[in-house]
Amino acid sequence: MNELTRNARIEQRFDELTQCGPQSDMGRLLRRFWHPVAVAATLKPGGTRPIAALGEELTLYRGEGGKVHCIGGRCAHRCTVLHTGEVTGDELRCVYHGWKFNSEGQCTEAPVEAPGFEKNVKIAAYPAREYAGLVFIFMGDNPDRDAIFDLQRKPEYEDPNNLIIAREQNWPCNFFQQIENSLDAAHVGFVHRTGKIGPFGAAVSDALPKLAYSETSAGIRQVATRGPSNIRVSDWTFPNYNHIVTPGRTKESPWVHRGVWNVPATDRLTMKMGVYAIPSQGPEIDAQTRAHFDKYAGYNPADHHDALFYGRQWPEDPSLQLTPAQDYVAIRGQGETVDRRNEYLGASDAGIVLLRRLFWREMQAMREGRQTKRWRKIDEHIDMPIQTEAPVAG
Ligand code: FES
Ligand SMILES: [Fe+2]
Repeated sequence: MNELTRNARIEQRFDELTQCGPQSDMGRLLRRFWHPVAVAATLKPGGTRPIAALGEELTLYRGEGGKVHCIGGRCAHRCTVLHTGEVTGDELRCVYHGWKFNSEGQCTEAPVEAPGFEKNVKIAAYPAREYAGLVFIFMGDNPDRDAIFDLQRKPEYEDPNNLIIAREQNWPCNFFQQIENSLDAAHVGFVHRTGKIGPFGAAVSDALPKLAYSETSAGIRQVATRGPSNIRVSDWTFPNYNHIVTPGRTKESPWVHRGVWNVPATDRLTMKMGVYAIPSQGPEIDAQTRAHFDKYAGYNPADHHDALFYGRQWPEDPSLQLTPAQDYVAIRGQGETVDRRNEYLGASDAGIVLLRRLFWREMQAMREGRQTKRWRKIDEHIDMPIQTEAPVAG
């Protein structure tokens, strides 16, 4: 292979990682999984929302009976957006000429046309379900669909003694560099040391970690060892879901389980969907925790881009604002889509290398018509992390 061909091949392999549309290999691979696309509470009965997921415009709506549905973003007739329409029962009527669609995307009424005309009209529709305060959709045709949904499930999200708080934000950069950040424990001691040092920084940043990565039935296990009593284990789930445990709101607060999904809306915009599972501390403290989340968790670093990048103005709250702001500065700072041809990787990037290899392996299997890995939830429960003795700032 000459140098030119080799460079073109490298570029192509990197590009493959960053595309989410239905024609791309990555897009086809991602369509074999469920993805969270909205905080469930943002959809009231009869409510609608336009969203983009995996490069497609979609409409989410909640039927009057409470069930969430996902259909195409635009009307089949003359292509106006459907989220401006009206929900009746479990169907959605277009605002423009009144065509009505059911949750399968089938047109059920085209009022000005001859009866029966509507039977031939159909738009996209995808299964939707709710879990842990989020709406998940499935945009592919994997016969493994239900087993694949189990990848999302964690006992902490189903424990009635936990407060469950779901959050969403959009970051204007490619999803894959955000997924890579989940497998990059070396960043923690630097990124989360800047600005005001919060509980997260104090708890995990005292020593640089020794890192180990291994493939599991669900994805990749990351073990960051910073000392005999400071071992941080996190299980990342294929293709875009990280589960970590972070310190609570105050020194006395229990640690919090957090799920974070990086879901491509488009190749240039990523939905960061999050769930916090917080052990209950009684009604009074729980109410304070909820109030704290209401006050700070709506923060999206992307809305403060210039202040963060040029003003070095860090937000007030250490865990709900500062931590994401720090990650945003590092990750968005790589560019809208990082140019991986210019990287210089080291041993600490072993997780990123493993991650890319898994994606390339799966895409290759798919291209060749071979069976891709049947990913399955890890049943064995581990405490994450083994809690450190290190002082946790409040
Ligand atoms: S554009 Fe929707 S009914 Fe005409
Ligand atoms: Fe981070």
